[in-house]
Amino acid sequence: MFRTKTCGELRAANVGETVTLSGWVDSARDHSGVFFVNIRDRYGKTQTVFNVADGNPELFELVKTLHNEDVVQIEGEVLARPEGLINSDMPTGEIEVKATKLVVLNRSEPVPFLPSAPEVPSEEMRLKYRYIDLRRPEMQRVLTLRHRITKTLRDYFDENGFLEVETPILGKSTPEGARDYLVPSRVTQGSFYALPQSPQLYKQLLMIAGYDRYVQVARCFRDEDLRADRQPEFTQLDVEMSFVDMEDIIDLISKLVARLMKDVKGQEITLPIPRITYDEAMERFGHDAPDLRFGMELKDVTEIAKTVDFKVFRSVAESKGGRVRGINVKNAADKFSRKDIDGLTAWTAEQFGAKGIVWFKVDAEGKLTGSSAKNFSAEALEAIGAKLEAEANDLLLFSCGDFNLTCRVLNGLRRRLAAQLKLYDPDEMNFCWVVKFPMFDWDEEENRWVAMHHPFTMPLVEDLPKLGGSDDEIRSIRAQAYDLVLNGFEAGGGTIRIHDSEVQNKVFGLLGMTREQAKEQFGFLVDALQFGAPPHGGLALGLDRVVMLFAGVDNIRDCIAFPKTTKASDLMTGAPAEVAPKQLAELAIKTTVEKPSEN
Ligand code: AMO
Repeated sequence: MFRTKTCGELRAANVGETVTLSGWVDSARDHSGVFFVNIRDRYGKTQTVFNVADGNPELFELVKTLHNEDVVQIEGEVLARPEGLINSDMPTGEIEVKATKLVVLNRSEPVPFLPSAPEVPSEEMRLKYRYIDLRRPEMQRVLTLRHRITKTLRDYFDENGFLEVETPILGKSTPEGARDYLVPSRVTQGSFYALPQSPQLYKQLLMIAGYDRYVQVARCFRDEDLRADRQPEFTQLDVEMSFVDMEDIIDLISKLVARLMKDVKGQEITLPIPRITYDEAMERFGHDAPDLRFGMELKDVTEIAKTVDFKVFRSVAESKGGRVRGINVKNAADKFSRKDIDGLTAWTAEQFGAKGIVWFKVDAEGKLTGSSAKNFSAEALEAIGAKLEAEANDLLLFSCGDFNLTCRVLNGLRRRLAAQLKLYDPDEMNFCWVVKFPMFDWDEEENRWVAMHHPFTMPLVEDLPKLGGSDDEIRSIRAQAYDLVLNGFEAGGGTIRIHDSEVQNKVFGLLGMTREQAKEQFGFLVDALQFGAPPHGGLALGLDRVVMLFAGVDNIRDCIAFPKTTKASDLMTGAPAEVAPKQLAELAIKTTVEKPSEN
């Protein structure tokens, strides 16, 4: 037997037992004649002791040769540590193992970094030597949590009568959404499979096939610009149900959230989870995944701005669609120098293309001051102050431009400043549902309507008559779509699907697609919808994101065993990489990429 206990298991109750441990040398220290070896596995660490006075010189010579990360097996007797030497930071800190036998199972080369070192190595090193990084207790904590979450999800759906069905990875490229990853076919040269961006179309086919409760832990692939909360290859907890409406799905997933909070965090949450409409979220927070852990809501002063001499405000306020909005950073005026505010201005310009920020500080008398204040009448300043509920020492920041720009700028500032000023408890888990999303978005570049979700999303029943209406009517059509938001991140989203071909034809028409074109692109689904499609809908949770938020880490890469960098490469395997010319020839593929010259 390689081991009788794990390295995290021994307690005072085990004193007197003879045990065998196997694991990695976490540290080996020589205290003149007494050698302390900490042995580690994913369950913890145990201190073992080798004493020259025990009269086993061979054993002592061998222990002296140990290096960090050697793999060893140690047998010995569990002893209580003397009073005063108990290490309360270590779960096994009450005991130590007096070693009687040591087997070196494998030697390690010097490692690029030590898994137990307090300082976190650079991300480049961590990703290159991921197998060593994964030995770090923090990574083990997160991956263990990930397992717990996945297990709870699977149990929950199983208990609720769902079947897990696997769907293909090699599929057909379909438009909408992100860019596809393509896989060339060798058998049909010149043709390509696409990796699924989600199992969306297959799960709808499963509904048509009568599998009315489907779930899958599904791998998805999207070739899009990466961020801290996005990976090119990620996992969804994907769900679809028949004979349900939006309320049924929201109810099922809300109960799942409560279950996860209880099983994983040990916290009870009160249902129902609060809801906010898309319009309200954009108006009050400037984002469709609002972080509700703190206030600092966006306030509109466009009407006041129309009356002032200050050109920056007035010209925007009077232009079509122009908005002037601001946030109140409470009690922060003395925390931000002019230079700090210049820094924020430069940041919003770089990140969101803002042309500037207009700011005021509120003085002890409650008056608005600042470089632009001289351009405003006392009444206008007072009105602005009242609108933002300004009090002494508040800092007011304004953005002006079209609605979307003010949303981007103020949402960015709001999140950044709340984090900087620690306006929320990082352990809080704040859920909300965002509902009543717009159904269509006008694509300026392509000069056409596009589906906000996907073309099979059902509009709200009361908005159906507007499908044939004016542009303004079309813009106001809302979808039966819902997103689950956690701490300002979109944790999941879904929609009720269209199962009626008349509505579907109207939507295709609006999207500028003839039925023939739609058939070409989504043929199998368009066909299948005609063979007895039940009313259905579903949702997908971003599993990596859920783990990120439950684990309290700020980077999705830390929740995935083998992630990609923001350039979508794998520093450990070197993927993506060139392939042999023979492989390309078999696929009838030639690249147009110029190779750097050899000299
Ligand atoms: P959607 O595109 O909103 O919906 O994706 C669902 C959830 O998946 C997560 N997610 C990602 N996580 C990591 N990296 C990415 N690149 C990434 N992209 C998305 C998000 C998101 O909320 N088929 C529909 C669902 C449905 O309608 O049933 C879909 O894929 O947390």
